[in-house]
Amino acid sequence: MSETLSLTGLAIRGPNRLLVENVSLSLAAGRVTALVGPSGSGKTLTARALLGLVGFKPGVISGTLEAGGAHLALTHATPQDYRPLRGKLLGYLPQGARASLDPLWTVERSVGASAALGSGPNDPSHWLRLSGFDDPEQVLRHFPHELSGGMAQRAALACALAGGSRFLIADEPTTGLDPTVQEGILRHLTRLKARGLGVLLITHDLRLLPELADEVLVMAAGRIEERVTPEALVAGALRSEAGVRLLEATRTIASGRLG
Ligand SMILES: Nc1ncnc2c1ncn2[C@@H]1O[C@H](COP(=O)(O)OP(=O)(O)OP(=O)(O)O)[C@@H](O)[C@H]1O
Ligand SMILES: [Mg+2]
Repeated sequence: MSETLSLTGLAIRGPNRLLVENVSLSLAAGRVTALVGPSGSGKTLTARALLGLVGFKPGVISGTLEAGGAHLALTHATPQDYRPLRGKLLGYLPQGARASLDPLWTVERSVGASAALGSGPNDPSHWLRLSGFDDPEQVLRHFPHELSGGMAQRAALACALAGGSRFLIADEPTTGLDPTVQEGILRHLTRLKARGLGVLLITHDLRLLPELADEVLVMAAGRIEERVTPEALVAGALRSEAGVRLLEATRTIASGRLG
């Protein structure tokens, strides 16, 4: 059986309301699970919960996470419980990935520090090549402010993978990049999927999904409203209000008829 990561019944309580409610999802080797939904629907919070980045105050978070032989009851989980998961099992390409690179570190040092966490190759060039740099030597000695948006995204991807992760959370990996760079990153994710990486792809852009995703989860107001196949998405067979709105807006923008 291929390796899986399962999140069941995730709930996250904010100061005044439930921010995420009863979210369940699973990731599997060589599959892309897409999480889409309007701004503020809880996608990033869900991603952060998988990594133990939501906060450890009692009553904030509940649900269970099963991955890599670990079974965590999230209500009681501590930072130590997540240590075997982060980097080694589960890589994270955060939203606004440039900000995840240390501004005082070269690309070589950032990727090297991530690689030191895992048991894979220690050579930063290996991970940069895997992240789409044909000539890693060109970026090794650069600092984040010296990289273009697309280069920073690929350097952050190298950091996310360098722990030897078998799963990747990519939170809006193409947002704000020029379409040719977007295409490169998507091709790249497709290659990583073919190599057996299991991916949680968070995006607003439904156009990316038919080629890449195996399952699409539509999230709104903290809940998963529907789960569809990419084929259903292409056929316009969405039933949730959030899904229908996203699809309509995507089609309107693609048609250029905004008036
Ligand atoms: N640390 C926090 N404390 C309190 N509320 C939070 C916190 N982080 C996020 N929220 C709230 O949780 C909700 C979901 O936020 P989240 O960042 O998950 O949205 P998102 O779906 O990723 O949106 P976007 O598409 O804009 O990135 C929002 O209402 C946000 O204000
Ligand atoms: Mg977000």
